[in-house]
Amino acid sequence: MGYTSTQIQQTVAGQSVKPVVLGIGGSPRKNGNSDVLLQHIVKGMDEDGIRAESVQLRDLDFKGCIGCERCRQDKICTGLHDGMSLLYPGLVESKGLALVCPTHNYNVTAWMKAFIDRLYCFYNFQDTRPRAWSSQLADQGRKAVLAVICEQAGEEDMGFALQAMRRPLEALGYEVVDEMPVFGIFDRAKVKQRTDVLSMAEQLGASLAEALAE
Ligand SMILES: Cc1cc2nc3c(=O)[nH]c(=O)nc-3n(C[C@H](O)[C@H](O)[C@H](O)COP(=O)(O)O)c2cc1C
Repeated sequence: MGYTSTQIQQTVAGQSVKPVVLGIGGSPRKNGNSDVLLQHIVKGMDEDGIRAESVQLRDLDFKGCIGCERCRQDKICTGLHDGMSLLYPGLVESKGLALVCPTHNYNVTAWMKAFIDRLYCFYNFQDTRPRAWSSQLADQGRKAVLAVICEQAGEEDMGFALQAMRRPLEALGYEVVDEMPVFGIFDRAKVKQRTDVLSMAEQLGASLAEALAE
């Protein structure tokens, strides 16, 4: 298990404070392209004075949602006790999210999909069929940015990856203020050679910082 709840907080001037933005990396490849992008997104936020902390999902020992529906009563996931249980407090406290993921088979990775499914506990459902729903995270000024990187050159090769993150986040009540597709990069950390892309990642972080400051 990679993180404790205090590790997803950042210490400023000796005081432990929750991050304003949580950066979430969805690649299983350590020191790969998504990691580099996330570092630059965080750099962009830092330069705008926004506290951010990053978590790599591959370092969390966690499962996908098992559909036990215990969250209907408990309002948080109590059916599983794992790495996501440690992430929830920081996620609720953070006003912003930066999700970064490579395309795997035209979609997000299994890690990112499992993370998104574990946000199901934040929905409120009524007992109708289909169930009417709302989100515990709605109407709180939550904002997000998204980045996806893939090997091939065309939008069709990136597939649904951006949409697969955007739609659930919007349903949960986040405003997606900006997003960044990156094409044509396969080798580990090769994106470091694309200074234009790194600047865009920093700009993406700055966009989120500015949107949160509004
Ligand atoms: C299992 C798997 C599936 C992939 N599927 C796609 C794909 O559908 N389209 C694409 O363009 N690239 C695909 N790729 C390539 C990655 O998106 C690409 O190498 C990316 O730069 C990896 O980022 P990372 O270093 O952050 O993991 C795939 C890679 C793997 C390992």
